[in-house]
Parts: sequence; C-alpha cells; structure tokens
Amino acid sequence: MSNKMWGGRFGAGPNEIMEEINASIEFDKQLYAQDIAGSKAHCRMLAKCDIISDEDAEQILQGLDTITSEIEAGEFTFSRALEDIHMNIEARLTELIGPAAGRLHTARSRNDQVAVDFRLYVRDTADDLMAQIAALQLVLADKALAHADTIMPGFTHLQSAQPVTFGHHCLAYVEMLERDRNRFKDARARMNQCPLGTAALAGTSFPIDREMTARELGFDGPSRNSLDAVADRDFVLECLSAAAISAVHLSRLAEELVIWASAQFRFAKLSDGFSTGSSIMPQKRNPDAAELVRGKVGRIIGALNSLLVVMKGLPLTYSKDMQEDKELTFDAFSTLSLSLAAMTGMIEDLEPNKERLREAAAEGFSTATDLADWLVRELGLPFRDAHHATGALVALAEKTGIMLDELKLAQMQAVEPRITNDIFSVLSVENSVASRTSIGGTAPDNVRAEAKRWQEALADVANRREQS
Ligand code: ARG
Repeated sequence: MSNKMWGGRFGAGPNEIMEEINASIEFDKQLYAQDIAGSKAHCRMLAKCDIISDEDAEQILQGLDTITSEIEAGEFTFSRALEDIHMNIEARLTELIGPAAGRLHTARSRNDQVAVDFRLYVRDTADDLMAQIAALQLVLADKALAHADTIMPGFTHLQSAQPVTFGHHCLAYVEMLERDRNRFKDARARMNQCPLGTAALAGTSFPIDREMTARELGFDGPSRNSLDAVADRDFVLECLSAAAISAVHLSRLAEELVIWASAQFRFAKLSDGFSTGSSIMPQKRNPDAAELVRGKVGRIIGALNSLLVVMKGLPLTYSKDMQEDKELTFDAFSTLSLSLAAMTGMIEDLEPNKERLREAAAEGFSTATDLADWLVRELGLPFRDAHHATGALVALAEKTGIMLDELKLAQMQAVEPRITNDIFSVLSVENSVASRTSIGGTAPDNVRAEAKRWQEALADVANRREQS
C-alpha cells in the first residue's frame, strides 16, 4: 500500500529497508509539543485569514488537544510507516475528526513545519540550559564567599605559581559560565525568527498572516527569505557550539575535582553522594561523577562536528540529510543538562581541606614573586635584577631544603646587601594574597566583593525567569 500522506503518485509501498532508513519517529516524537503548538498557531491563522472555516478550525484545535492528552497519557500509537511526528499526528487527527484534518496542511509543508518545531525545541532547551548554568554559577559564588580567604596554591603548568584563594578559583568558573550563558543568549536572539508559512521552499499563494503565527509562537517576527528559512540549521550549530564550549569548561573543573580529591593532593573532599566505591579495593573513593562530566564532553563536541559535516555540502534548500540534525542535538543537550546538574551537586557538597590547601600554598617557593616585588618597591631595583636576585635566594633555599621565609637575614644579604628584616613581612602566603588588590586580583576583600556582586546578579536572573 502506498503512503497515505504523500502516496498519490505511487503504485507500491516502500521497501522495508527504505522505511527503516527514512523513519525518524523513534526520536522526533520528542517534538510532539512543539509540533502541536505550531499546528495550532497555523490553524488559528488559517481561520482568521478565511482560508479555512471557523468550524473546521475548531475541530482541528480540539483534535490536536485530544492528541496531546493521548501522547501524554502514553496512549498514542506511533507508527514507523508514518515516518515522522508530523505525519503521525496528522494521521491521528484524520482518524479523530475526518476530512477537516486534511485542511490543516494548507499553505504549509513539512519543511517549514520541521524548521519551526526544531527552532521551538532548541529555543526552549537553550532557556533551560541558561537557567541551569545560572544555578551552577550561584552555587560557585556561594562557595566563593564562604572561602574568600581560604588560601590555596595557584598553578601554571600544574606547578606551584603564586598563592590564591579558593574563592577566587571558584569565581574564575563563574566568569566562564557567564560567557557560556551569554553565548546561548546571543544565539537565541538570532534564531528567533519564525519559518512557518515558508511552505516547501518558495512561500505560498494563500493570503496567510505570518506576523500572526510568529507572534503567537513567541518569535520576534517572520523569517525574511523562504529558501533560507527551510534550508539552514545554523541556529542549532550555534547552540551546539555554545554547548560544546560550556561542556569544555565543566570538563576542566571536573578534572580539577579529580586531582583535588586524590590521596596525593587531598585538596578537597567530594561527598559520598557524588563518589563511588571499588568492588575490590575497600579503601577507594572514586570521583566517578567528575570523571563522567569530563568524559561526556566528547559526545557534545561530536554532535557539533557531526552536524557541521552533515550540512557542509547541501545545496539549497531542504535535503533529507537534515533529518540527521535531531538525535545528536537531543543527546548533546540532555548530556549537557545532566553534566550541569551533576556539577552543581558536586560543588554544593564540596569541602575544601583548608589546612592542606594552606600547607600546599606555601610549598614550591610560591611567594618568590612577592620577594622580587619587595626588592623593586623598597630598594628600587629594576624588576629583571630583582628577579635574578630572588632566583639566587630560591636556589639557596632549595639546596638547604628550607622555605624562603626560613632563610637567615645574613644569607639574604649575601645576595643583596640592602635587604632588611622588613622583607619577611611579604613572605607569608597570607600577606601575598592580601596584597593582590588590583582589579580582578585574588585579595580576600576583592573576592568577597565579587562573590556578593555575583550573588545579587544571579538572584536577579532567577527572579526574572520566575516572572516570565
Ligand atoms: N522528518 C523530516 C525531518 O526531520 C521532516 C521534514 C521532511 N520533509 C520532507 N520533504 N521529506 O527533516
């Protein structure tokens, strides 16, 4: 039997393999709510423009509501022979209300239908992801305030560099996540044009009102070129790119958690709720959630790559290749959402080990820069000479196995005779972090002020979302 929806010119039905490769219902059924919202907007517009009668429109709208309830109650039978969500819903509508159902597809094609459905889905999901990112930022800002003066080693090359505070480290991720959120926001603003009414590719001869459907579906306006509207998926690519970058940020934080939780570092403890044991080694406490956040980024980057490759050689306008956009997008977004939830939980429970962090911060001659700065400030040495003298002092301390502040004044004066006892005041890690008061520096007062600023800004984001 040929296809009910488009089989007019076909004598026979599709080969079984054709049906298998062609069908998308297994995954695009996730778009049912967006598909029905788009259809309802289209139907109301057709009636208002006198393209279909009010009676038919009323039946269509009621039928679509029935279908929503059936799907949500798990009573809807999805059929692979009907290919995709659009035709599954239309076929059921025909069963429910008869011939009036056939009028819904006037001035519309599956090409603009899928374009509008997918835009609505990506837009809604971007909104959810932005809220989740903000929630993680808030948890990090809270941690930052609680640990504004918890001193830890700051690294470059994973070598002790200069002491910083744990709060400052948390706020670094708040900044990254803010840019992630803004990337979604920018992409959202660009994608918010409604493709509905573009029809197959050329527009339609029916006197439709595209402003009306655009408004009803929450778009800023109708798309301006029919070919572009059905042919591009750059709105998905932009959001996948934002998702991939954000996932990379989460992965870096996850990597730090893995390092910090190791017995060798002991910088912080992950809660039982986000650790697992080993089936053979009773002493183990593995940071599996952090490892998985680090690992799952591969799928998200993979999704971005896959869709770029799918799109790269397609002539205008729609090609069936584009059906490949959905599974990977669903997977990438749900993976990012889960990773954000796991990271938020881990950070909320995270307990930095203050004593160990303080001890580690003092290792590796981490206040050598403070010593060099003292030579510049107090003795007027050019920084390069101060750097050289400090290097000699570090070598001396290293050779005798002591810290910089354990050197005797006489040993220091052997390197630079004008050094006085005052130099010892800058060699403590506390003094070092407290002195970093430049904008964006790690001084505890800075960190406290920044953490509070973020708490307020993020509470605003949450309030605005509640109101909308
Ligand atoms: N399932 C299709 C997709 O996801 C819907 C659009 C089909 N359009 C068509 N002309 N065959 O892309």
